[in-house]
Amino acid sequence: MIALGSDHAGLELKLKIMKWLAENGHEYKDFGTHSFDSCDYPIYAEAVGKAVASGEYEKGILVCGTGIGVSISANKVKGVRCALCSDCFSAEMSRRHNDANILALGGRVIGSGLAEKIVWTWLHTEFEGGRHQRRVSLFTDIENNQ
Ligand code: RB5
Repeated sequence: MIALGSDHAGLELKLKIMKWLAENGHEYKDFGTHSFDSCDYPIYAEAVGKAVASGEYEKGILVCGTGIGVSISANKVKGVRCALCSDCFSAEMSRRHNDANILALGGRVIGSGLAEKIVWTWLHTEFEGGRHQRRVSLFTDIENNQ
């Protein structure tokens, strides 16, 4: 189950991703926003971040204008590993090496065709573990040493 969220600037791309997810058999819950009225992206990033960090949702996808605001916000939630990706190689590596559990996209940066390829790549790539697990575990150490 995938947790989705966006602000107004990411809503158009999020709606396209929701359609694509449904057509490809992926279940999701949309945590908002549901309107094109201007809103504050950290609210939705926090909701998706907590949904994923709690284990209730396996993965999350966040969209804002650049993807930067939602990625910064989501990464403030303990347990979130949010990767902002604008290409398929980064999306693949964010799963293989970083075990990213949230994907951030920029609705004003990439088109829907590329976004769908990035989402497909990200959802279908597994974490490699091994030496990368040691590094990912160090993320948790950083969180616990604040
Ligand atoms: C909204 O105008 C815009 O600032 C937001 O969507 C995002 O790009 C922030 O990082």
